[in-house]
Amino acid sequence: MRQFRNVGAMALGVLTLLGAGGTAHAATVPIDTQVDRLLARMTLAEKVGQMTQLSEGGVVTGPGGTKGLEANIKAGNVGSVLNAVGAERIRKLQEIAVKQSRLKIPMLFGLDVIHGYKTIFPIPLAAACSWDMAAIERSCRVAATEAASDGCNWTFAPMVDIARDPRWGRIAEGAGEDVYLGQQVAQAQVRGFQGPDLKAPTSVVACVKHFAAYGAAQGGRDYNTVDLSRRTMLETYLPPYRAAFAAGARTAMSSFNEYDGVPATGNKWLLDDVLKQKWGFRGFVVSDWESVSEMIPHGAVADRKEAALLAANAGLQMEMQSGCYLQNLAGLVKAGKVSQAQVDDAVRRILRVKYEIGLFADPYRACDLARRGRTIMNKANLDAARDVSRRSIVLLKNDKDVLPLAAGKTVALVGPLADDRENMLGTWHCQADGKQCKSLADGLKERNIKVVTAKGCDIRGTDKSGFDAAVKAAKQADVVVAVLGEAHDMSGEASSRTNLNLPGVQRDLLMALKAAGKPIVLVAFNGRPLTLDWEQENLNAIVEAWHLGTQAGPAVADVLYGDYNPAGKLVATFPRTVGQIPLFYDHMNTGRPYNKDDHYTSQYMDAPNEPLYPFGYGLSYTKFQYSPLKLSTTALKPGGKLTVEVTIKNVGARDGEEVAQLYIRDLVGSVNRPVKQLKGFCKISIKKGEARHIKFQLTPRDLAFYRADLSYGAEAGQFKVWVGPSSATGSEGAFRLTSNVAVPD
Ligand code: NOJ
Repeated sequence: MRQFRNVGAMALGVLTLLGAGGTAHAATVPIDTQVDRLLARMTLAEKVGQMTQLSEGGVVTGPGGTKGLEANIKAGNVGSVLNAVGAERIRKLQEIAVKQSRLKIPMLFGLDVIHGYKTIFPIPLAAACSWDMAAIERSCRVAATEAASDGCNWTFAPMVDIARDPRWGRIAEGAGEDVYLGQQVAQAQVRGFQGPDLKAPTSVVACVKHFAAYGAAQGGRDYNTVDLSRRTMLETYLPPYRAAFAAGARTAMSSFNEYDGVPATGNKWLLDDVLKQKWGFRGFVVSDWESVSEMIPHGAVADRKEAALLAANAGLQMEMQSGCYLQNLAGLVKAGKVSQAQVDDAVRRILRVKYEIGLFADPYRACDLARRGRTIMNKANLDAARDVSRRSIVLLKNDKDVLPLAAGKTVALVGPLADDRENMLGTWHCQADGKQCKSLADGLKERNIKVVTAKGCDIRGTDKSGFDAAVKAAKQADVVVAVLGEAHDMSGEASSRTNLNLPGVQRDLLMALKAAGKPIVLVAFNGRPLTLDWEQENLNAIVEAWHLGTQAGPAVADVLYGDYNPAGKLVATFPRTVGQIPLFYDHMNTGRPYNKDDHYTSQYMDAPNEPLYPFGYGLSYTKFQYSPLKLSTTALKPGGKLTVEVTIKNVGARDGEEVAQLYIRDLVGSVNRPVKQLKGFCKISIKKGEARHIKFQLTPRDLAFYRADLSYGAEAGQFKVWVGPSSATGSEGAFRLTSNVAVPD
């Protein structure tokens, strides 16, 4: 229910120039003037150096490696280093830049700080299930504070790619399938990483990735081709990036995929027409790892020189790792193929970010060992991780209130993830040490729960030799808690799957455990929606715990024992079977919507159309009742507002939180409209027996879409509106927009 506009304001800052000996003096001069003065002193080679990012190899996040990093820094060939780790090493590399290179320009140090640095928070997909923007912002703030205290000043996050295919392992890194929620989450993440003051030594620059539409990889196979209509690109995929820039994100990363036949890294429409011209973005774009040279196998260019040419002219300002700019860009400028103005624009953007974060004033701004000691994994950070973890958990099933468990009961704690610390971390766990995580067994130990343990089987593989011991443990207990799921490296980059069942023989283990006749609670730690149809049918309770990070065990224990009443709601649809994919809630209708009495309607012969769990779904230990909606008008006029009111009553036996979700449907459009679209939500806490009255406001802007000619606006006609606990149910109302409204895009 909000549109995001550009941030175009020119930044003012404190001028600090490093003199020849490295001493600093400062005066108040606009940053753009400082940038221009420095640019005037640079050679073409030094400019190309600023446009180059090389990997240090402290961590490995792509193929190949870098040789001669230090010599290149000294020669002024490097504007930024990625994957250097630790304040000591970063200080050493920065010293080479600011003491030994001719112009002494400090470097940006980039790292994948995705959901924590050493204190690991839930994977982004999980954190989004909290629908709690303050919690998401807090998790990114802690990540930034820890990373910055160890020398990092730039994170390659947030990933705001809309993802609608759970086969794609990188669904774990984003906020799921919805464009409205995706925008809110993107903004919260940027606020968290960058903090209120970019110059503060606790801030890191955010890098919005992967621009654009990387999440739409065909077949869910990572790095694969994307083929989207322009309308879907504009309406569904682009808004979260734009929202992140509107929140102040200073950098972006181009994606590996092609869009409309041209790799994103060399795609002028994306990098120039949309990002620079239309959105007024003043920061810079870095390529993804070697995505400049990867335009050769894409078939977009013949060699590295052509790759540099295509990327530079498309508007890619910094090249990560492949070195095509370093090798070819100066020659291309001299040959008149890339203009000096294009290069100057790129360098200006990069230098501006360096000034904005105060890097010229203090190139070591983040390297402070005392602060690092006080910051990393301190109690406040661990407490925050536990809190955000609890908020991220989604209760999928709770038959006959088997949960929460009574503390006195004996638990058979079964499964390969029951006492596993390392795999709690999930993908991209940066500098975390798995040994410092708490498993669910640790969490139950802290509560002195009587536990009989049996691993049962591994995460992967076919070995069932542990089943008997697991069944024996189940027989000795009052309840079975089966802790199953995916290993940390089964989601994330290059981790696509075609089968989304619990891997290995884990489902067989559950089948065997049924023989013990005890209630079974599944706790699933995983990085993507899984196909849990058998589990839904056969188990008593299911807790979707995702990869929750450092404090996974205590957080899940808090939920199992009712110290925290779960309130998470899914942000990605759970299919029943892989064959239903792609499956998402805001799909179009067909001309033959499913009708059980008519064979010739849109359906599968062997599975229902409906998902197992819809977008927005999640249970609580209490129950909420929604009143009928009250609409302020049934005729919304251009320039007018529509208030939608609802009362939600907690009719269960516990205090709880609810995420009330508002959806609309535009019944008839000049281009087809989705069957439902999220346009607002509100997370509220309601005491048992009490009710809360909430109000949403809609304006014609919220009803706008890209029409046949791609103009943006809302069309007169009938709408439906729902407010409810998920995308599948809710109280319904109707209204009409009285006339067409053009909306600035
Ligand atoms: C490749 C990944 O696609 C990207 O997300 C990451 O930031 C870079 N490697 C750097 O590690």
